[in-house]
Amino acid sequence: MIIFDVLTIFPALFDPFKKESLLAKAQKKKLLRLTAHNLRDWTTDKHHSVDDKPFGGGLGMVMKIEPIYKAVQKLKKKGKKSKVILFTPRGKKFTQAMAHDLSRQDQLIFICGRYEGVDERVAKNIVDMELSIGNYVLMGGEVPCMAVIETVSRLIPGVIGKPEFLQERLGKGRRKGFLEYPQYTRPEVFRARLAKGGKAINWKVPKVLMSGNHKDIEEWKSKHGKMIAG
Ligand code: ADE
Repeated sequence: MIIFDVLTIFPALFDPFKKESLLAKAQKKKLLRLTAHNLRDWTTDKHHSVDDKPFGGGLGMVMKIEPIYKAVQKLKKKGKKSKVILFTPRGKKFTQAMAHDLSRQDQLIFICGRYEGVDERVAKNIVDMELSIGNYVLMGGEVPCMAVIETVSRLIPGVIGKPEFLQERLGKGRRKGFLEYPQYTRPEVFRARLAKGGKAINWKVPKVLMSGNHKDIEEWKSKHGKMIAG
């Protein structure tokens, strides 16, 4: 069982994410536990402030260290393999290989940054790793957090239907890498009309995929597929 503890000021964003799809099933099967905690629960002032003005001036607000510190202290399970991760666009780029490493932890504590940034003492002293999901700036770490939870969860045995689903596209003999090739299903010929009253055109499935010749099919998949770095 892997435990995901999310620290956020928008815990409700995670409600549908938790309740729908394979993640809900995985939680029922006790393969994982996902809890979104409201950072404001660890504030002590009457306004439940999680942010304040930056020292030295500057635009926007900065997330305070106290609620994050208290939350991590409370949530971190002693004697378990755990990692504390902060989402920020300046972090290390998240990869499939990192997802494999993270899936071997007992607990992952995710800090979802908002506003213009997070007090630097969080990154320096509380966090094991800063992660980014790409070179663009989102409004906060919640969407990156969901991306990481999904990527890690599907690597946990039993979460997706059959283990073969994970193995199938791993290039033979190579553990690292994932062959993402074009896929088709019925109908064999799809008739499309690009303009109202226009000529119909047929969008066909490549013949080789219906040939039953496994060698040819494998060759076709390699030729048209793209390796995703593992
Ligand atoms: N917060 C804002 N943008 C982000 C990104 N690209 N990755 C991770 N966290 C973020």
